[in-house]
Amino acid sequence: MPCTVIVGAQWGDEGKGKIVDTLAERADVVARYQGGNNAGHTLVLGEETYKLRLVPSGVLWPGTLCVLGNGCVIDPEVLMEELDGLEERGVDLSGVRISGNAHLIMPWHRIIDADSELMLGRLQIGTTRRGIGPAYADKASRVGIRVQDLLDEKILRQKIQTALSVKNVLLRKIYHQRPLDKDVLTEATLRYAERIRPFIADTSLLVNQALDAGQVVLCEGAQATLLDLDHGTYPFVTSSNPIAAGACVGLGFGPTRVDAVLGVAKAYVTRVGAGGFPSEADEADSTRIREHGGEYGTVTGRERRCGWLDVVALRYAARLNGLTQLALTKLDVLSIFESIPVCTAYRLPDGSVTEDFPWHQSDFHHAQPVYERLEGWSTDISAVRDAGQLPRAARDYLAFIEERVGVEVAIVGIGQRRDQIITLRDVLEAA
Ligand code: IMP
Repeated sequence: MPCTVIVGAQWGDEGKGKIVDTLAERADVVARYQGGNNAGHTLVLGEETYKLRLVPSGVLWPGTLCVLGNGCVIDPEVLMEELDGLEERGVDLSGVRISGNAHLIMPWHRIIDADSELMLGRLQIGTTRRGIGPAYADKASRVGIRVQDLLDEKILRQKIQTALSVKNVLLRKIYHQRPLDKDVLTEATLRYAERIRPFIADTSLLVNQALDAGQVVLCEGAQATLLDLDHGTYPFVTSSNPIAAGACVGLGFGPTRVDAVLGVAKAYVTRVGAGGFPSEADEADSTRIREHGGEYGTVTGRERRCGWLDVVALRYAARLNGLTQLALTKLDVLSIFESIPVCTAYRLPDGSVTEDFPWHQSDFHHAQPVYERLEGWSTDISAVRDAGQLPRAARDYLAFIEERVGVEVAIVGIGQRRDQIITLRDVLEAA
């Protein structure tokens, strides 16, 4: 499929990076369409572990065009560190391209993000405090600074000065912080600009040219469906649109160009940050999943909340994204359980039971999970490479998901390493 969108189907951390990395071997372009360094992708190649924050996961395949689209927000300091770090390890960066229309995360965004959270107290969202929300807010308010502004020192100086004339008042009066020094900040930004300049391009043109030439383009979503600004569990969401439709806006091509949408879901569910989570496991099971699955944030190191697979939410993700296939990751983690609950419906406060994701936040907040219990397989499956070798109970688990969600499972992840994957159907060839 020339144009495939790869999207998180839960609350993030589904292992999208690994799936993109696997498919990227046969892709010409890997393009990120939203988010910033709130995302974190861990890729394990032999003895080497790479933790990516901004650069698309395709970067480890030499010759792949790796795009950061206009829908992304970019902290230039973080990007520079990431580029330097990858280069030091011998990674070829010649394919990296950054949209001139992407917005920059500036130091005031980080401060405002962190301090707004503190001010919210118990009501805080649990953001990554990387300045994501405030940067997107400035974009929407049309006062943001863009990547293309790094190309012109005079414009950059002007924009920083204009922004600071407002932000410093906010910092002092609302957040009780010291104002930021214009000259120090401008000089630092100019240093980042120097490093980033060669990578800046008209990425919409590049992606469309690749599509015109029939090349394989993977659109890599960050965060996930339930963190979508419009369709997720607002306000406990991120400030962009991770759903598949976001790829069109965030990369600059029309909806008719998308051929397939691969949803990536864990075989269970995790969530970081605050917000409802109907299928959250009890303390003991949550700890077992966390320990066995290594469920700690790549970016913040925070403990992830863990729970059972939620078919209601997954069907919602299938609907919002128009999923054509599913990749189910970390199936091996469930090998420790003798039986596995799967949430197949929610009981709402009025006593009714629904299989549809509630549109009203109060219903969702108070939803009680209705579980069906499936048999576990209690065997190590991390060395299996062929679906036929999976224990019957594991195959039944996959079949149950396919039937209830109405989407076929194409890929199953059974460990961190690049080769720990079972391919049931060829995603890039699928009709
Ligand atoms: P922000 O994106 O930093 O504004 O955080 C908003 C919400 O999205 C918080 O609940 C974060 O924990 C969550 N979030 C942001 N990025 C990720 C991610 O990559 N994985 C999981 N959760 C994320």
